[in-house]
Amino acid sequence: MEAIVVENLVKRYDDFEAVRRISFRVRKGEIFAFLGPNGAGKTTTVHVLTTLLRPTSGRAFVAGHDVLEEPEEVRKNIGIVFQEPSVDRELTAWENLLIHGMIYGLSREEIRERGRELLEFVELWKFRNRPLKFFSGGMVRRFEIARALLHEPQILFLDEPTIGLDPQTRAHIWEYIRAMKERGVTIFLTTHYMEEAERLADRIAIMDRGKIIAEGTAEELKRLVGNDVIYVRFEGKTECFEADFVRGCRILPDGRVRFDVENASEALPKLFERARELGLRIFEVTYHRPTLNDVFLHLTGREIRENEENPMKSAMRLWGRMR
Ligand SMILES: Nc1ncnc2c1ncn2[C@@H]1O[C@H](COP(=O)(O)OP(=O)(O)O)[C@@H](O)[C@H]1O
Ligand SMILES: [Mg+2]
Repeated sequence: MEAIVVENLVKRYDDFEAVRRISFRVRKGEIFAFLGPNGAGKTTTVHVLTTLLRPTSGRAFVAGHDVLEEPEEVRKNIGIVFQEPSVDRELTAWENLLIHGMIYGLSREEIRERGRELLEFVELWKFRNRPLKFFSGGMVRRFEIARALLHEPQILFLDEPTIGLDPQTRAHIWEYIRAMKERGVTIFLTTHYMEEAERLADRIAIMDRGKIIAEGTAEELKRLVGNDVIYVRFEGKTECFEADFVRGCRILPDGRVRFDVENASEALPKLFERARELGLRIFEVTYHRPTLNDVFLHLTGREIRENEENPMKSAMRLWGRMR
């Protein structure tokens, strides 16, 4: 069964269409990622699916419930980590957890039991009595993940879970996300980091300017761009050869041989073996696999900008708007 079903969803802010008729399905138990640049409409979609915003048109079902008709049921079954941290920094981790549990109608006993287990899960148990203003960005994120799981939701929404974190902390958070999947939680995440989508997600929808422009596994998406390419330099004689795993072969002016293959990691051992059979000695091998950035570039003619916003630039823009 599907965890999320979205049909022709539109969200307009005044006369600006932020989400333009998107449809997709998220299967139970999978990690599904929305990958797209700033302004693509990812957060808007998350807000509609989590019942914080009403869709302009179209339908969305989350955990089997219509977001418009049964928002209470939807909310009971989901956990959310927002793009911007949403904690009370003056309160301790434990106090923040307690408040959250009470909002969800959990008993003190339930909060104590699950709270301890979850804070241990994200390795914050020993910091539970510390006000969150003393937590690092990564610790706050981990806390928010634990908090979002307190009422045992089936589906967890993570809006840019590692935005602004250093690579090491980011990798750490990825481990928790994988562990949550192991526990059977369905995960819907948004990101503008290609590596994050590629490393975590079972399936990815690439979003740009309010539309889903491609959807599939990372492998499927990369196939949209074309084949993997292997470049080989032989010792002594140079020649092209045919094989079932070779789509095309060409000798380049610099003496290297270019093999087009469907999947470089599968083709490489076969290529070595075939060369040995033919008595060709390999001197050098390099290969190129399309990245998700190549996919985005191929589909839009632009690159997903991964670097963080330059704070000066956003300040200037804000200033421009205020005038
Ligand atoms: N409350 C709002 N009012 C008007 N426009 C908005 C509002 N929230 C977002 N937008 C615009 O909608 C577009 C999509 O925004 P958002 O969903 O936040 O994208 P993303 O999360 O992919 O960066 C952007 O152009 C943004 O400026
Ligand atoms: Mg966003």
